[in-house]
Amino acid sequence: MNGNTCSSTRFVCVKDKSGSNPSNRVVPRECLSSLFVDRGFFDPIKTVEFYYFMGVMEMLAKAPKGTRDILPDEIHKWYYVEEKFREIANRFGYKEIRIPVFEHTELFERGVGDTTDIVQKEMYTFNDKGGRSITLRPEGTAGVVRSYIQNGMSSWAQPVKLFYDITAYRYENVQKGRYREFHQFGVELFGAAHPGADVEVISLLHLFFKELGIKNLALNINSIGCPTCREKYNQKLKEFLGTKLDNLCHTCKERYDRNPMRILDCKDDSCKQMVVNAPALLDHICEDCAKHFERVKSKLTAMDIPFSIDKGIVRGLDYYTRTVFEFVSENIGSQGTVCGGGRYDGLIEACGGTPTPGIGFGLGVERLLLEMDNQKIEIPAPKSPDIFIGFVGEQAEELAESLTLKLRAAGISCDKDIMARSVRAQMKYANKINSRFIIILGDNEVESGKVELKDMTTGETKDINIDTIVDRLLKYKIGN
Ligand code: HAM
Repeated sequence: MNGNTCSSTRFVCVKDKSGSNPSNRVVPRECLSSLFVDRGFFDPIKTVEFYYFMGVMEMLAKAPKGTRDILPDEIHKWYYVEEKFREIANRFGYKEIRIPVFEHTELFERGVGDTTDIVQKEMYTFNDKGGRSITLRPEGTAGVVRSYIQNGMSSWAQPVKLFYDITAYRYENVQKGRYREFHQFGVELFGAAHPGADVEVISLLHLFFKELGIKNLALNINSIGCPTCREKYNQKLKEFLGTKLDNLCHTCKERYDRNPMRILDCKDDSCKQMVVNAPALLDHICEDCAKHFERVKSKLTAMDIPFSIDKGIVRGLDYYTRTVFEFVSENIGSQGTVCGGGRYDGLIEACGGTPTPGIGFGLGVERLLLEMDNQKIEIPAPKSPDIFIGFVGEQAEELAESLTLKLRAAGISCDKDIMARSVRAQMKYANKINSRFIIILGDNEVESGKVELKDMTTGETKDINIDTIVDRLLKYKIGN
């Protein structure tokens, strides 16, 4: 016993003043000494430090709220949808772009809009060591637009079609389908103002969901017009909201003058109530915008892509003009919007580029996988190793090592023991990892150069020469 700690050689069991161990926590001695005692932070006699200590230990073994690990037993699902998305994006002529995880804060303030929830409440912003304000990307569009301008893409063959697969960061209330670090697939199409571009982007998503086997994702579309029609609409909206100002949240009171449309998108319950009967922008768009929207609708109908008009879609980002759309599921509850996007014809100019129309979408990968799970869509299971090589004895171990490398070099997935286990334990492990074939090497095999190959799915065995094993395995159509 040592004050509040009872110790064994490797572990320390931390106790409080009463001598009990409230959290029943046993921690490795190395952690205790290196983290606290050695640096003089922690005096195990004092209860306060004890709790501080326990809190820190908890943080060390817990990811920050709203983030999660993607573990090996689920990674195949990610590979599956990522590969499908890449493949479809390529089929539609989109090329991948990789953008930085962080950008100058001003890009998002200007691009996403400084009256949006994202910019006002949700960004991870910090000063770097050079004193610059940096923000972890809350979405992909602003970064891709920055890259379009910086890399002179306006001189490339138009339209420029880009896709991305990124993480994004928003300080949001965490719940199912809503995280602080999440993944987005997205596309951005620059240079085409034609309604044909709108339906191309939507049709890519339509096909993606179809090929994944996802059913019942409702496509809702709306038009939120251009700056000209929006100016007139904002006046109408302000008239409507004028008598309700007292019931709006603090942020929306400020938005009333600067950007009243953002109030339509506020997550505050009282604000939501106040806008229930607000005039719809779609009823006030100008003739050109109305024509554009009509053509989008007729093209979608001609392409057999079902949709509904949802006059309530305004989207949470300021850059949108004209067509906006969402694919919504009823299965994931309040976070049912699997994908959202729209046209942003003024964004490139607003960020300092030459006026260029743009349209794109962002698709939440976590929500996509949740939806696939809910719809019980089967994703091909990961392949187990083709062959496990067991061995007994030193010479056999060396032969197992060289044979394993030879098979791996031939594209055959192969595993062997590296834990000095008994042959019995090796076979138990081979069983656990579900290896299709097994061979065991011992003195006999080393001497004769022959092994018994056992097919674990059929129980069949075959004697084969070690020299020809690669060819034999490839003949069974395993490996690449
Ligand atoms: P967004 O609607 O903010 O649009 O996000 C797109 C999708 O990302 C959402 O529909 C949702 O599936 C997913 N998502 C958003 N926030 C979270 C979160 N906290 N946790 C999990 N998933 C989330 C954009 O980001 C635009 N940049 C889309 C775009 C591209 N528009 C034009 N081009």
